[in-house]
Amino acid sequence: MKNRSLVSITDFTKEEYLRILELAQHFERNPIQKILEGYVVATLFFEPSTRTRLSFESAVNRLGGKVIGFSDASVSSTSKGESLADTIRTVSNYSDLIVMRHPIEGSARWASEVASVPIINAGDGANQHPTQCLLDLYTILQTQGTLDNLHVAFVGDLKYGRTVHSNVIALTHFNTTFHLVSPEELKLPSSVKMHIKEKQLEYYQYTDIQEVINKVDILYMTRIQRERFSDPMEYERVKNSYILTNSMLAGAKNNLRILHPLPRVNEIAYDVDANPKAYYFQQALNGVYVRQALIASILGLV
Ligand code: CP
Repeated sequence: MKNRSLVSITDFTKEEYLRILELAQHFERNPIQKILEGYVVATLFFEPSTRTRLSFESAVNRLGGKVIGFSDASVSSTSKGESLADTIRTVSNYSDLIVMRHPIEGSARWASEVASVPIINAGDGANQHPTQCLLDLYTILQTQGTLDNLHVAFVGDLKYGRTVHSNVIALTHFNTTFHLVSPEELKLPSSVKMHIKEKQLEYYQYTDIQEVINKVDILYMTRIQRERFSDPMEYERVKNSYILTNSMLAGAKNNLRILHPLPRVNEIAYDVDANPKAYYFQQALNGVYVRQALIASILGLV
């Protein structure tokens, strides 16, 4: 993994995912290790973020490195008309690794082609969010004791949900049975479904969340993302499609865990938070350990 960019979850093999998860366990046990002294990581966020940016920055700080960057593109020279390529070439001179979130699909790949340091894609439009995927795999392994042969439901915006796209592709390595719950307008794109079909895995599509709750090991909820809709009326039609409440979980399997990449709006009611099956805040914490593992691997420090 040394000096390699992570743009799409397909850039890494199954063995490489497992290596990152093993290293993340090591960082969970020993989160403070000063192996990054003298290194600079740039975090360039052209789109809003709480968890991804701050967990990357927390990971770098806990490893003894320094962070530069911006969390608001309006304070960077892109607001004066500078191209993404020129920004990336410039920041490559100031840092050893660039973590970038950008609203345009394909921007992270383009950045990796012009950068002289590795690029980690922290989300490019509706395309991919590979580091979220790795922390989701870590969380699934932590809660289920295995990644193999699980029934996983993805609920909500499967069309624009970049975390869903990365997760579905990664889970095809683990003989997952997929339960895909969405409004008709927000079904999983065929380009992602193709990965399931290539591995000849089972998948089922639903519009009613209640049909899957009692069948699955992981219930992965997602937000209907207002910012991805070009037609506000379409967003209004689908925005309240799924609201998970505590009473809906009465017949769920004991090992069921509810994940969500967060932020949530209303798709998980607050009364679910106290249910031991709710695991989304621990999931967000795991982002620090997984990102420590990834940074250390890409910089060749482990
Ligand atoms: N999961 C995730 O990407 O959250 P943020 O948008 O807060 O970074």
